[in-house]
Amino acid sequence: MRTGLIVTAWTALLLLACSVADGASAEKKVPVTPGEAIYKSQCVMCHGRNGNLNMSGAKDLTKSGLTEEEMIAVVTSGRGGMIGFGKTLTKKQIEEVVGHVRMLHE
Ligand code: HEC
Repeated sequence: MRTGLIVTAWTALLLLACSVADGASAEKKVPVTPGEAIYKSQCVMCHGRNGNLNMSGAKDLTKSGLTEEEMIAVVTSGRGGMIGFGKTLTKKQIEEVVGHVRMLHE
């Protein structure tokens, strides 16, 4: 009887441990890089999650033919309907977000 109780307690503990471990691995499947986080907070409203929303004339980032340097220049100083982020983001943040944009590229 006593042993039965202990076994039950252990099973409950094991189940608990498993569900906690599962939660951790689920989080790892969607890694959020600094660049992705900046993209989600600053760029999604015009370019969309996948870069191809094209809201208010925004270019399709998945098809952009710009080099990394050219993208950094557009994001820093802006161009046409695209606002510049040179004052809101640091140089490093702009490099990170451009790195994320390049991953959206088809
Ligand atoms: C207010 C809407 C808006 C926001 C916010 C915005 N963009 Fe843009 N973006 C545009 C528009 C509009 C264009 C097209 C500009 C043009 O035609 O000259 C553009 C163009 C670009 C281009 C050039 C693409 C090409 O092939 O010419 C890049 C790169 C870019 N955006 C990256 C970003 C990044 C990175 C962010 C977030 C830090 C961002 N944009 C936020 C509207 C926006």
